[in-house]
Amino acid sequence: MKDPATIIEYGVPIDPKVMVEPPDPDTLELEPGHPGLGDTEYVRRRQDLFALCRRHRLETLGPPPIEYTPEETRIWREVTPKLDELHRTHACGLYLQAKDALGISTREIPQLRLLSQRLEHETQMHLVPAEGPLAYRTFYSYIAKRGFPVTQFIRHGSHPEFTPEPDMVHDCLGHVPSLMDRDYAEVLTLVGRAAVTTPDPLKVLALKRFSWYSIEFGLIEEAGALKVFGAGILSSTGEIPFSLFSKDVRRKPFVTDEVIETDYDPSRMQDHLFVIPSFGWLRSEIEGLVQRFGIPVV
Ligand SMILES: [Fe+2]
Repeated sequence: MKDPATIIEYGVPIDPKVMVEPPDPDTLELEPGHPGLGDTEYVRRRQDLFALCRRHRLETLGPPPIEYTPEETRIWREVTPKLDELHRTHACGLYLQAKDALGISTREIPQLRLLSQRLEHETQMHLVPAEGPLAYRTFYSYIAKRGFPVTQFIRHGSHPEFTPEPDMVHDCLGHVPSLMDRDYAEVLTLVGRAAVTTPDPLKVLALKRFSWYSIEFGLIEEAGALKVFGAGILSSTGEIPFSLFSKDVRRKPFVTDEVIETDYDPSRMQDHLFVIPSFGWLRSEIEGLVQRFGIPVV
């Protein structure tokens, strides 16, 4: 089963076998088949936000305040209540507490500048405005310095459940709340520091797989129940029930040596998932992996 909403990659999608990627685009590029392509008003809005967020990123100005349009707010109010209902039942406790603590609501699109200030206070993480997908080295160089790149644009309103690229719904609802957890923040930071430090593409690939099967598509066992913490799952109304209940999904304990050897396909729903016991455990696993790889992170 294919669900384009799951085409969510750390940075610009690349072929993990050859590790070749394009540079950061300097103008807006909507993929062929993007639902907003024929909508000149949408394209113009995306171009404006692209230029604004890119400038704020390059000049390290932090997320710009955005005055969202009624249409963007309408889309947020259509998509996020459905996700929130699923989160209340299926998301892990840490995520739910953090989402409430951050005051992320289903009514108004949050201002990332304010969320970033709160994160800075709690876990010394901050949000970096991203105009769109970034090259993986650019992406990792930010998280190595405790900055998480986030988009601020909203998907096209013709198919509110669908986005062919990470947007505000994915980033803000999928990633941002978990950044309030210290162990989660340390996992992310260490992956970034290791990825930008090692010159070995195979070690980078292993780190990408570790991230994919945890930060993006991780499950966690909580009080004997299976819960979701991966951002790619949390931001998709299709992926949440699929990940937990589909007979087509293999769910296995997270064994790092197996995870880093397991390929993934970002263009389809994920039928191979791994379950961690806790964020603290995940942190010790990435610390062990980086040490075993001999990557000299400080
Ligand atoms: Fe993501």
